[in-house]
Amino acid sequence: MKIALGVTGGVAAYKAAELVRRLQQEKLDVQVVMTRSAREFITPLTFAALTGKKVITEMFGADDAAPANVESAIEHIAVAQRIDLLLVAPATADILGQFAHGIAGDFLSTLYLATKAPVVVAPAMNVNMWEHPATQENLKTLRARGVHVVDPEEGYLACGMTGAGRLAATEAIVEKVCGVLGLRHDLEGQTVLVTAGPTREDIDPVRFLTNRSSGKMGYALAEAASRRGARVVLISGPTDLPVPEGVDWVPVRTTEEMRNAVRERAREAQVVIMAAAVSDYRPAAAQSQKLKRGDDRLTLELEPTPDILAELGREKGSRILVGFAAETDRLAENARGKLARKGADMIVANDVTQEGAGFDTDTNIVTLFLRDGREVPLPKLSKFDVANRILDQVLQLRQR
Ligand code: CTP
Repeated sequence: MKIALGVTGGVAAYKAAELVRRLQQEKLDVQVVMTRSAREFITPLTFAALTGKKVITEMFGADDAAPANVESAIEHIAVAQRIDLLLVAPATADILGQFAHGIAGDFLSTLYLATKAPVVVAPAMNVNMWEHPATQENLKTLRARGVHVVDPEEGYLACGMTGAGRLAATEAIVEKVCGVLGLRHDLEGQTVLVTAGPTREDIDPVRFLTNRSSGKMGYALAEAASRRGARVVLISGPTDLPVPEGVDWVPVRTTEEMRNAVRERAREAQVVIMAAAVSDYRPAAAQSQKLKRGDDRLTLELEPTPDILAELGREKGSRILVGFAAETDRLAENARGKLARKGADMIVANDVTQEGAGFDTDTNIVTLFLRDGREVPLPKLSKFDVANRILDQVLQLRQR
């Protein structure tokens, strides 16, 4: 994963060098961006040597060595599209003010406006500046906008005063960054099997029955579990999604193929999450030749498919089983029914008629129904965040 580290002008700028090293140990690819005042405290050469990359210092590439050029500005803005997170450490009162008020005065403040990636700031400044209502108001604005703040520590400050304002410990900053990126290691040693996407049931050689599932929720689960250290087997119906890195991907087409793959691979898994939208019926007899057009009505006879989740539920052992329920009405009643019928530990239910939930969206609004009777309603979240909340619950169940 790629992150941009913004370094602004304060005595603590030297600590950013150690921070780069720690972030690299977490396998993060770090691009350093420095403000003009940061360069009064530490030179770009230090960061260039640590990262093996040119440090971005100016919007138009103009510094003592190079003339201004527009290609540089465009290339720099591309950084905004590529990064998974923007971290600013140390963050001065000045940069917090620029961010809070949307002032794009230099490259770093432009990057803040141009990126859609999450933002983490670790402020460091003189105690009076930290406590000033202007700074605190700016932080309030940024927090309300979703910016993550790693609060400074209390202690002896470089200006000779004592109080809050010292840059947070490197470990606290790294922990926050990893948390926001979903890079916890709490699923290490576990194998998680995830199913995703739709299935296809052939009618004839050119036609099939399927549904609107995009696979996004299942792929988000696979990615989140993998980032948290799990070994992940992703059994996927046809989707257009890129396979998350490090995941054991098993492509399937029909319910029967998915069933066989799940039964085979579930043996090695401690957690099985059935996020796939499995077809409930299939044509009773697939035609070997293309069906021809006629004047009469055509009736397609369907037979039920095996219920993969219910089959696993019958031979569950100590495995944690999670099912999904896409509903259009009576959410709780249907979800509780599925929990019992399928022998699952948890059903993740969503009302697919709601805006921002269900098929082919990047967000989801779900309620987790647990076997012990608990109901956990979640707000509208990205599918990646929903995935992490589901995994949090799974971990709780495993620890019991
Ligand atoms: N499921 C499955 N095998 C099937 C059908 C569904 O394993 N043949 C799984 C899904 O992956 C999901 C859960 O069962 O995790 C619920 O699926 P859903 O289609 O909502 O449930 P059904 O039991 O089919 O109920 P209905 O369609 O009547 O709502």
